[in-house]
Amino acid sequence: MGAEPLEIYLEDRDVRRSLCEDVRFGLTATPKWLPPKWFYDSRGSELFEEITRLPEYYPTRAERAVLAAHAADIAAVTGAKTLIELGSGSSEKTRLLLDALTRHGDLGTFVPLDVSASALRQSTRQIAAEYPALRVRGIVGDFTRQLDRLPTGGRRLVVFLGGTVGNLLPVERAEFLTAMRAALEAGDWLLIGTDLVKDPGVIVPAYDDAAGVTADFNRNVLRVINRELGADFDPEAFAHVAVWDPEHEWIEMRLRAERPVRVHVLDLDVEFAAGEELRTEVSAKFRPEGIAAELADAGFAREAFWTDPDGLFGVTLARAD
Ligand code: SAH
Ligand code: TRP
Repeated sequence: MGAEPLEIYLEDRDVRRSLCEDVRFGLTATPKWLPPKWFYDSRGSELFEEITRLPEYYPTRAERAVLAAHAADIAAVTGAKTLIELGSGSSEKTRLLLDALTRHGDLGTFVPLDVSASALRQSTRQIAAEYPALRVRGIVGDFTRQLDRLPTGGRRLVVFLGGTVGNLLPVERAEFLTAMRAALEAGDWLLIGTDLVKDPGVIVPAYDDAAGVTADFNRNVLRVINRELGADFDPEAFAHVAVWDPEHEWIEMRLRAERPVRVHVLDLDVEFAAGEELRTEVSAKFRPEGIAAELADAGFAREAFWTDPDGLFGVTLARAD
């Protein structure tokens, strides 16, 4: 069957328009900020894969352990015919689900969706080669805007891994879960991975590694803006900062201007004072009861909640009510 050509829900001109809006809005706000989806050009996607292999970055290994232990249960309970993955990246851990669902016998179609066309091109080719009986439909799209266009029909399982749901702000997260529920039929399934609240001494190094890969990843958003909008950021003028926010229970990624910086982008002259910070991402950490409540508010019933043996990362299986 093989990989079909990527389906494009995001045209280049829409991506450009939305980047312009985000840059205009975020760089003229106080404090300055940018939304996280702009990290992921081809270099950004590669740097993220490198992050997943860092000794300090526990979420990927912990989530993989949960999936390895429970993929067979997930296949048996859901009996999914179609597996849809949001923010799929390399879909590396997803192979555990593809294996279990294929063995179970009902899976026909895999639909990874990501903003990063380069990551999708690679993952769909590899997966189509590894699972020749599977129909692989990669979608270049934005999961905050285009859930209403997901493929319909058959028993569907939507998976959202990597703790990426924690990169949405609480209001965005509620909107996302509500839109997700609206896109599904009662009886469809959602599998969602969430990093858990724990000692900040474990969390902070995962976002500020010794080798500096996360710092490079964080600065990548400046390189994307330089290339796409002809801006003149000097990425090296900015230091990577990761701060635990105990009130919101999230870790916040920032870029701090090490000296006064002036950037020309679009028709704007943006000034950074020495020490001024630009917020590039939050990564919320969850408590089991909080996840269940947010899912219930959006119209999902929790079927199961699992963690890895060290209790670092949680995976919830929920049914659309
Ligand atoms: N699921 C993978 C990758 C997580 S990194 C894992 O668990 O390792 C987050 C992924 O989400 C990246 O591949 C990024 O390109 C994608 N992404 C980020 N924001 C997105 C958005 N708004 N819409 C679609 N994909 C998005
Ligand atoms: N979804 C990942 C997370 O929240 C994304 C991520 C990992 C990330 N490391 C990062 C985003 C560093 C920005 C900077 O864990």
